[in-house]
Amino acid sequence: MNDVAIARGLHVVSVVLWIGGVAFVTTVLLPTVRRLKTPAERMPLFDRIERSFAWQAQISTAVVGLTGFYMLYRFDMWDRFRRAAYWWIDAMVAVWLVFTLILFIIEPLNLHRRLVSRSDPDVVLKRVEWLHRILLFISLITILGAVMGSHGLLLFE
Ligand code: HEM
Repeated sequence: MNDVAIARGLHVVSVVLWIGGVAFVTTVLLPTVRRLKTPAERMPLFDRIERSFAWQAQISTAVVGLTGFYMLYRFDMWDRFRRAAYWWIDAMVAVWLVFTLILFIIEPLNLHRRLVSRSDPDVVLKRVEWLHRILLFISLITILGAVMGSHGLLLFE
């Protein structure tokens, strides 16, 4: 059982680093960039700062995925995907998939920068801010459900 406790510890520490970083970017960095710089300077500044967070987020996302699937495998919890009471398991995997797509495919391939260079920088920054708010909100609801659920409080049962 020690291995599962270690996996759980690493899972939670990585979630804290990763979603904590997303919370900082959403509630501190993006509003500050919006207030301080001219529209043309905003996206490059934001991009530069967020890029230094991207590698940390990549490592945390990888550890969260590995430890999460390890716990599912060790406790043989696969049937939970079919039960409404365990909606937070599906939510964890969904959040993980969205961030994995952004961090490992969209950002490294510069897909978003192609879009950015063609649009009004002010509109792009507003969209980026909304995307971060939505992802942060969904992540926090998922964390709430996961902590309550794994400690026995199951809704919709
Ligand atoms: C591939 C993705 C993921 C998988 C397979 C996964 C799997 C798991 C499993 C099996 C548990 C233990 C459940 C139990 O003890 O009943 C767990 C706990 C947890 N997970 Fe995930 N997870 C993933 C991603 C995430 C993400 C993205 C977040 C945050 C947004 C997250 C946050 C948590 C939290 C907070 C706990 C509760 C820990 C505790 O209080 O004991 N997980 N996860």
